[in-house]
Amino acid sequence: MLVILKRDAGEISRQAAQLVASAVRKNPSLTLGLATGSTMIAVYQELVRLNKAGSLDFSQVVTFNLDEYLGLAPTHPQSFHHFMQQHLFAHVNISSRNIHTPDGTIRGDYDKYCAAYEDAIHQAGGIDLQLLGIGRNGHIGFNEPTSSIGSRTRLKVLEKETIDDNAKSFAPGEESPRCAITMGIGTILEARKILLIATGGSKAAAVTKAIEGPVTSAVPASALQLHPDVTFIIDDPAAAQLTQRDYYTRVLEMTALLTPDRLS
Ligand code: F6R
Repeated sequence: MLVILKRDAGEISRQAAQLVASAVRKNPSLTLGLATGSTMIAVYQELVRLNKAGSLDFSQVVTFNLDEYLGLAPTHPQSFHHFMQQHLFAHVNISSRNIHTPDGTIRGDYDKYCAAYEDAIHQAGGIDLQLLGIGRNGHIGFNEPTSSIGSRTRLKVLEKETIDDNAKSFAPGEESPRCAITMGIGTILEARKILLIATGGSKAAAVTKAIEGPVTSAVPASALQLHPDVTFIIDDPAAAQLTQRDYYTRVLEMTALLTPDRLS
C-alpha cells in the first residue's frame, strides 16, 4: 500500500489525474473503473483538461462505473450516469460503446442483471485501474459497512448516513434513493491497481480506519489492505488522524527512488 499525502484537494486531483493519464498512455485501451461523488469532480476536470490539451486520448479506453442509484433513469440529473456525462464523458473523446454504468431502471431479476455486469467486466479483460472515493462510514462504491469482503455486483440497501449525505444533492421534497446497484468489494479487489482519493476532515476517521485499522467488514475500505497494489491519495485534513504519517512519507521517498514506475 502506498499513501501519498498532499496539502489540498487541488494537488490531489492533479496527482490522481496524472496517474490515470500515465496508465492510459502506457495502455491506450485501458479498462478504467470509475467512481462518482464530489471528490472526483476535480479529478475529472483535470482529465478533461489533459484531453483537450491533446496529451490524453480516451478513444480506446473502456470504462465501468462502480454504482448507480436504483430507480433513477440515466437522464435523471442525480443519476451517476448523468454525473459521468456532465463531468467527464461529454467532454472527452471516449466512445459511447465503451462506457458502462449500471442501469438504475432495472426491475425484477437483479441477480441476473448484476451477473451480466460482472460478465461484461470479465469480457473486457478485467479492470486495470479502479478509482475510488470513500464514504464517511468507510464505504467504497455503495458497499456499506457489514458488506461481505467477497461480495460481487449486487443490489444494496443504503445506510441512513449515506442516504442523508446524498439527500443534499436532491431537490427539496425529492426522496433520496434507498438502494443502489454496486460492484462488490470482491469485484473491486480484482482490479489490477486501485487508487483511492479522500479529501476533507469529514473523511479523517474513515481514512484512518481503512489504512491503519483492522480489516473488517465494518469498514469496507479496510478490505483494500488485502490488495497488492493500492494507492491512497489524501489531503491534510483527511490525513489528520493517521498515526504513521512520517513512515508513509519515507516509503514514498524510497518508492520514488527504487521503483519510480509505481508513481507514474
Ligand atoms: C460513488 C461512490 C461512493 C463515493 C463516496 C464519496 O460512485 O463510489 O463510494 O466515492 O460516497 O463521495 P464524495 O466524494 O461525494 O464524498
